[in-house]
Amino acid sequence: MTAIALLPSIAALRSQVRLWRQAGQSVALVPTMGALHAGHISLVEQAKQRADKVVATIFVNPTQFAPTEDFSKYPRTLEADVAKLTEIGADAVFTPTAEDMYPEGFCTTISLRGPATAGLEDRFRPTHFQGVATVVAKLLLQALPDAAIFGQKDYQQLAVIRQLTSDLNIPVEIMGAATVRESDGLAMSSRNVYLSEDERAAAPVLHRCMTKAAQRIRDGEAMEAALAPARNKITSAGFEIDYLEVRDAVTLASVEGRYRKGLRILVAARLGRTRLIDNIEV
Ligand code: PAF
Repeated sequence: MTAIALLPSIAALRSQVRLWRQAGQSVALVPTMGALHAGHISLVEQAKQRADKVVATIFVNPTQFAPTEDFSKYPRTLEADVAKLTEIGADAVFTPTAEDMYPEGFCTTISLRGPATAGLEDRFRPTHFQGVATVVAKLLLQALPDAAIFGQKDYQQLAVIRQLTSDLNIPVEIMGAATVRESDGLAMSSRNVYLSEDERAAAPVLHRCMTKAAQRIRDGEAMEAALAPARNKITSAGFEIDYLEVRDAVTLASVEGRYRKGLRILVAARLGRTRLIDNIEV
């Protein structure tokens, strides 16, 4: 196993990427907040297919958490993360500090419309995407990779990042990777560790119900009618639903009526103190 390069500062990241560039090598970035699971590992694997060198970033970004959210208890497992990245063959891991990313006097953020104001996550986490967009823009400009890869599980986030890089002419290919699921369908997430045993047993209902609703829509049922039984089942399993909607898969605009191409079902729901999100293609 080759050793992974540990890059604890922006200067170290830039000088490593410069060396690779001088050797004519391409670079892919895998931005994460750590607490790595099989979903992240699959992002690294896909990044390895795309570029000669892969840099994973681990930074629990404070600006994308509201004061009421789980920033302080978000799982931090750096040693295990670095071991997993080494095993999978990532070439480097960038672990900036909060002071590096947001030094004294930092006062610039990215202001968003379009997919960031689609009325999904933004309705419940109004400051979230501004924090995500700002940190992702910084990471892309710090590393200047050829490509960066993000999971489709955070579907609205992926749409926001695509829009951001296009609008700001950031010359990085944005790749979206399919959600990795547990064998019972639950989407892998670093937040799944918050679920109690009973909650974990109930959680796959989200994927099951979305899959059934998608089938009913493909079979010709009106979208709202197809979602109604899903809403009931998810609520009966103990969830409080923030949203369960069918949207245009590209713009995330609201849609109604019956099946057409390019639709996505998106859900966010709270089970106890854990909030889960997921989505599937119709
Ligand atoms: O999806 C995540 O893990 C984070 O939102 C990201 C993209 C790494 C930005 O902090």
